[in-house]
Amino acid sequence: MTDAAQSTRGIAAELRRLLANAHAPYSGVHVAAAVESADGRVTYGVNVENAAYPLGQCAEASAIGAAVTQGPTILSRVYVASSLPGLVWPCGGCRQKIFELAAEGCEVVSLGADGDEGRQTIEQLLPLGFRLPPAQVRRS
Ligand code: THU
Repeated sequence: MTDAAQSTRGIAAELRRLLANAHAPYSGVHVAAAVESADGRVTYGVNVENAAYPLGQCAEASAIGAAVTQGPTILSRVYVASSLPGLVWPCGGCRQKIFELAAEGCEVVSLGADGDEGRQTIEQLLPLGFRLPPAQVRRS
């Protein structure tokens, strides 16, 4: 097995374990996500629902928040797993959140419970995503 395949397997196992930590009392759908930064850091998150439904947070948003908290973050890969059968892909809002911090060609890897996986780049998932003109972006 290649190093990359081994790393994906390790992340998939950790996501399966973390599904138990999701706070999803309303939908019953548990989601866990990991984001891999260009510097190799891997950060995890789960969905956090709220009785005020629109305030619920997706797993991808939790993982991105945790990564940014640790320092400057450029995303090279995002992994998603859920308690649903089949493959789950990030919602539209999370695609935009990923796009904001993504390196060009950032891969989104959807991991199914049965070992099945799918891969799409963020540009495939969010064609023509929104970015401000570089002159308007303060980097620090
Ligand atoms: N959810 C995520 O956490 N990530 C996704 O990519 C899709 C949906 C969550 C939101 C909600 O808590 C639950 O899954 C059911 O929609």
